[in-house]
Amino acid sequence: MTTSNKTLCLAKIVALGLICSVAFFLYFEPPSPFSSFTLADEENYKGMDPNEKPIVLLWFWPLGVKFDFKACFTYFNIDSCVLTDDRALYSKAQGVIFFHKDIDWHLRNMPQAPRPAFQKWIWFHVESPSNTAKTPGLDNLFNLTLSYRRDADITVRNELTIRETEMTDDFVLPKKDKLVCWIVSNKDPATGTAVRERYYHELSKHIKIHIFGAAFTGHRLRYEDYYSTIASCKFYLSFENSIHRDYITEKVNGPLVVGTVPVVLGPPRENYEQFLPPDAFIHINDFPDAKSLADFLLYLDTKDDLYMRYFEWRKFYKAHPHLLSTNNEFIQPICLACDHMSRDRDFHVVHDVYKWFFS
Ligand SMILES: *[C@@H]1O[C@H](CO)[C@@H](O)[C@H](O)[C@H]1NC(C)=O
Repeated sequence: MTTSNKTLCLAKIVALGLICSVAFFLYFEPPSPFSSFTLADEENYKGMDPNEKPIVLLWFWPLGVKFDFKACFTYFNIDSCVLTDDRALYSKAQGVIFFHKDIDWHLRNMPQAPRPAFQKWIWFHVESPSNTAKTPGLDNLFNLTLSYRRDADITVRNELTIRETEMTDDFVLPKKDKLVCWIVSNKDPATGTAVRERYYHELSKHIKIHIFGAAFTGHRLRYEDYYSTIASCKFYLSFENSIHRDYITEKVNGPLVVGTVPVVLGPPRENYEQFLPPDAFIHINDFPDAKSLADFLLYLDTKDDLYMRYFEWRKFYKAHPHLLSTNNEFIQPICLACDHMSRDRDFHVVHDVYKWFFS
């Protein structure tokens, strides 16, 4: 699963820098007036010609947020299925995507018609187990999982890609006028944030932390300020809301994209090292306590050569900007499902989706 490698625009964004990512953001925001983007012409899909592009039906718009399916081609170079939200195509769809959070507790909003033998149901969920409601009745319902988990059938992550040629010109560090920053929009303890908040309070006793976002300041950081804010800091607190294997989110990707060192709180270092070079980030578990971490960050602030070692990986790998805001964070997973469906001809059954997801 590295279809994101192909992301044409995203590659361009890296080249053009932040200005382009702002433009990118503007493209998606505010939500464009929506018409049904059914690219399928029903007449064309009467037979099940295996050479035809499969129809992939998005059963719910995740959280009710709509987008133009053309974005899959424009931004991810994916054009290998016919994405539709037209439920009239249900009986012809090879894949049907169900956004977990939108599934009714009694499954009343799920398809009532019999499922064609060729059809695969895709369980689409990108939250961590801590933030997952165990809607009953989902056993033996799905065929494929779509999640951040590496062992999902369709994995959706912000992955580093390997540069085709080593970057030879030196990386230019963006101007920094802050040492440590944190953008935090959520401090609802019910979502599992207590651990990171405790650590933040302890850390803030020993080093100044610049806070942005709704959780503490009361106002949301504007999306167009997201990347530039992170870039202006030497270190960024990439603290996950809850700690789970593979749950390493855009909170790490942001600083990697702009040239800031992520200080991570999440699963163990070994798990991060499955996705990132070891010297691309600092893990809070590398230190016995918050004070030692603070001392180390203050030390790095005085040693430019040591600090710059955290950017060595950029010669060989590339981080790609992720889409900001709930208006478009679901685009990439849906495009990846489309791409997957164009290749997957195998029989699959997910017997117990929770047993898998919660283990
Ligand atoms: C999909 O999963 C269902 C339920 O587990 C199963 O009955 C069906 O045969 C599977 N279909 C395919 C195409 O894998």
